[in-house]
Amino acid sequence: MTLSSAPETASAVQHELRGSVLVVTIDHAPVNALNAAVRRGLIDAIEAADADASVRAVLIVGAGRNFIAGADIREFGKPAVPPSLPEVCNRIERCEKPVVAAIHGAALGGGLEVALASHYRIAVAGAKLGLPEVQLGLLPGAGGTQRSARLIGAQAALSMMLSGHHIGAEEALRLGLVDRVGQSDDVFAEGLAFAHELIATKAAPRRTKNARGLADKEASVAAIAAARAETQKKSRGLLSPLKIVDCVEAALNLPFDEGLRFEREQFLECRESPQRAGLVHAFFVERETQKSPETRDAQPRALDRIGVIGGGTMGAGIAVALLDAGLAVTMIERDEASLERGSAHVEKVYDALIAKGRLTHESKTRALQRFHGDTKYDALADADLVIEAVFEDMAAKKAVFAQLDRVCKPGAVLATNTSYLDIDEIAASISRPQDVLGLHFFSPANIMKLLEVVVPARVSADVVATGFELAKKLKKVAVRAGVCDGFIGNRMLAVYRAAADHLMEDGASPYQIDRAVRDFGFPMGPYQVIDLAGGDIGWAARKRRAATRDPNARYVRIGDELCERGWFGQKTGRGFYRYEDGARTGTPDAEVESIIDAERERAGVKPRPFTDEQIVRRYLAAMINEGANIVHEGIAQRPLDVDATLMHGFGFPRYRGGPMHYADTVGLDNVLADIRAFAQEDPLFWRASPLIVDLVARGRNFASLNQTA
Ligand code: 3HC
Ligand code: NAI
Repeated sequence: MTLSSAPETASAVQHELRGSVLVVTIDHAPVNALNAAVRRGLIDAIEAADADASVRAVLIVGAGRNFIAGADIREFGKPAVPPSLPEVCNRIERCEKPVVAAIHGAALGGGLEVALASHYRIAVAGAKLGLPEVQLGLLPGAGGTQRSARLIGAQAALSMMLSGHHIGAEEALRLGLVDRVGQSDDVFAEGLAFAHELIATKAAPRRTKNARGLADKEASVAAIAAARAETQKKSRGLLSPLKIVDCVEAALNLPFDEGLRFEREQFLECRESPQRAGLVHAFFVERETQKSPETRDAQPRALDRIGVIGGGTMGAGIAVALLDAGLAVTMIERDEASLERGSAHVEKVYDALIAKGRLTHESKTRALQRFHGDTKYDALADADLVIEAVFEDMAAKKAVFAQLDRVCKPGAVLATNTSYLDIDEIAASISRPQDVLGLHFFSPANIMKLLEVVVPARVSADVVATGFELAKKLKKVAVRAGVCDGFIGNRMLAVYRAAADHLMEDGASPYQIDRAVRDFGFPMGPYQVIDLAGGDIGWAARKRRAATRDPNARYVRIGDELCERGWFGQKTGRGFYRYEDGARTGTPDAEVESIIDAERERAGVKPRPFTDEQIVRRYLAAMINEGANIVHEGIAQRPLDVDATLMHGFGFPRYRGGPMHYADTVGLDNVLADIRAFAQEDPLFWRASPLIVDLVARGRNFASLNQTA
């Protein structure tokens, strides 16, 4: 059972006496986040318990689906309102009557800290306990680092706080984070029974600050040293992970109150950092992008049987993503041989997971029972949704859609995974344009989180809603995009890659550019990405566009030169880097540098040096400017949709919140000044987006456009 929510007018925390137990219910929809009213209410309730002689125990529970999801993330960045959460937790711990926290649903961050400050804890099935602050650029700042280490030991506490992972009730019991797991899922009844038992046995308050989890000093020192070494290696550029380790060390070495003070200082430093702002922005962005006018106004269509056309890189990856979500998949290929290759592609993805120990043979067998292959389109007669992933060629796509128009049942959603082609044109070529949608996955499709839901002019709202529903089933971040060449992500990629090419021809080496971009926080630089994906893909696109390219636009030929030599990257052993004997990490190539020199000479460019910072500024300015154009044209609904696209499809560092959020942090006027300075050299490429010009003129930023769609 979950407790039902009280009417909106009720206060955020209610308390009432049940026999001799004061039941304190946190009722602050949607997730009982600890805003100022909840914090105040908790203190009032504990004061009431201590003041009333008839109260012999206190029970804290959450209304609705969760115990408490944590501090109210929306309050960060605003002036602090007392009481603070550490004060609340300390007051709970000081309570003179035994306090029980009864946990169902989420007890995360500050929510778990409230439970840790309570004297006894019980969790029911389905509970999710965790200290995920690290994912928001924070550390537990209400005693969580000090109490968790004392309760469950340094190693387990560090593992929870550094991973941010949630654990279930049984695991929490095993670690000693809770005292018991309820027999039923009726959290209220379980909690109340526990409280009565404590009264019956005359149990005293049991304060976590006195727990002995750090008693084995040697083991604690070793756990802290190991965590520090591991964190130094892994947490590139992030502030809070090492501070978490420092706090646990303080828990070991300092008296409790001093440890709390140390934790608070570290917490406040993290809370004021741009990383926290970036990560909290990312948290909200991931939720906001799921909201579009269509998901508000229309219901999704059925989504059980899915067809996939094409079993190449994308078709196979998409099939695996669908199978992993429990859906039934029919794959169509051109002929038996291609179908065999397509099915083998799907199996290969699973086999790689098995080899890494991430999947069992049984799970693979179970997934493949829902997979069927065919060479005849009639096999799609029952499909609810079909995703086309054949060659990137308009005629090939239209031929496939003509077949779908012929065989699919009325109301089936017909989607294309095209990267660049005009989906309005594809839709117009069949008798049911209202059913045609773009579903643009990213490679590898079973791993990459981004799904661009591309909305053509004539599509029905419920078809768009179905695209968002599919993303939810696949646990992907869906971003609504309009039709244009490259939609949101690839259109931006083309522009910032061009900026990188200009930098390369002007004097920076591809290796320096990659390093500068990595140091900014991307996992890879642009030339490493080209080598990984295959230089031939971009080359083919450039050749296709050659006829329509503006003859006055700057064109850097270096990439073409490499492709003409058959250097397509990793798969051919050479690209911008050399990959000796099948190596996955490339080494710089002097011959590539000679080719670049020759191209500079041919183009009449006198090379000049760039600092890493200058490289990043140009790269980012190009990205931000095109992002602004995309918002200005309505291709993206809001700047935050651009942020989600770059973070989840293109490796933009989450802690910087995406390019548009980043632009706000450096100041749009500064970005505009950069663009205008670069335009002195190349006014055609560096044309300031009208949106940036307008926002700067009005003293506004991108965030001001991020209201709900
Ligand atoms: N503060 C404010 N709003 C929150 C929130 C929080 N801590 N957690 C969730 N919300 C909001 C979401 O933004 C969303 O709002 P919307 O409906 O307007 O879009 C709504 O609650 C529902 O959230 P979800 O869509 O994520 O709902 P789910 O049911 O899928 O997930 C959840 C629930 C598991 C609780 C998930 O929301 C979550 O993981 N929340 C964040 C938990 C967290 O990071 N807590 C730590 C906070 S930092 C802290 O506590 C510092 C302390 O140490 C001092
Ligand atoms: P691919 O060349 O690996 O696979 C295409 C597959 O389609 C081949 O197996 C081919 O046999 C099959 N096919 C061709 N015509 C067919 C037909 N008429 N009926 C059935 N099957 C047919 O191509 P890839 O990379 O998988 O790309 C597919 C689509 O996905 C393209 O539109 C591409 O632009 C898009 N895309 C590609 C990404 C990538 O990184 N490779 C990323 C996102 C989208």
